[in-house]
Amino acid sequence: MHRHLLPAALMLCLLVNGAMAQTPPGDAVRGKPLFENTRVATGNNNIANCTSCHTDGVQGRRIAISLNTGGTADPYADIGFETAMTRFTQAMTGRAEMRQFYGVLTTQQVSDIAAFLADTPKTDPASETQINLTAALNGNSPARTVTLTHSRTAAESLSVKGVTLEGSGAAQFHVGSAAVSCLANSVLAAAGSCAVTVTYAPTGGGVADADLVFRMSQGTSGDFYRVLPLHGVVTGGSSGDSGGGALGLGWLLALAAAVAGLSAARPFRRR
Ligand code: HEC
Repeated sequence: MHRHLLPAALMLCLLVNGAMAQTPPGDAVRGKPLFENTRVATGNNNIANCTSCHTDGVQGRRIAISLNTGGTADPYADIGFETAMTRFTQAMTGRAEMRQFYGVLTTQQVSDIAAFLADTPKTDPASETQINLTAALNGNSPARTVTLTHSRTAAESLSVKGVTLEGSGAAQFHVGSAAVSCLANSVLAAAGSCAVTVTYAPTGGGVADADLVFRMSQGTSGDFYRVLPLHGVVTGGSSGDSGGGALGLGWLLALAAAVAGLSAARPFRRR
């Protein structure tokens, strides 16, 4: 069995490398003038400025991308770079009005514009990524750090208004020390970041689920959110997560997931 899986794994490696080589990383700071003043930024007068049609600016495009990928009409939605690439590329090939850009913008310019479209406040780990924590009953898990980073091109600062734990298991988790908390540095300039730590401190057996919720606003915007699900497991209980030769397969599955992630737009929810 493993003799058959190895070539497959190598193929996946090549696919991953190939896909990455085709998409250079984007730079939102370069993408902003390409979107707002396309002719000047590209030196090409035969194409239109993005904003000549998209008169509501980049925020209007973020709303469109969010709505078209299952989110709400939120100009501050957590749009991933790959999602922005997919939506932008599909629009260039699928919309007659946008075909003028296809093959005319360089791959670097396309990436830079996608990075600008995706340039909204982000958490690391990304929002909607489940954080798994384990601790002994009445003990403490190691602290996990979550950073919040403001977008790079925003004209307004980001106000962090709340970092809270919500949901049924909220009492089993703790948000750490005020000294490093985002609330102590609640106004972030463009590209600024802050960090919080989260620990699991179970006082009852079994598992606990909660959400780590960042509430924020930007300029005169209404509140918007980033949400990270927390999952706590008491060690010594039956976690069902045993090893036993699963490592090799797990590695292959991770590779397969990485390949799938490159082609599929990452779905996200906003709660
Ligand atoms: C001549 C008009 C025109 C120009 C110029 C134009 N677009 Fe579009 N674009 C459209 C139309 C029409 C649609 C489809 C309807 C919609 O989403 O508003 C669209 C759709 C899109 C979408 C898809 C949103 C989604 O999720 O479906 C993106 C992203 C986008 N445009 C980005 C850009 C960027 C970036 C530029 C500049 C490089 C640009 N557009 C220039 C007309 C234009």
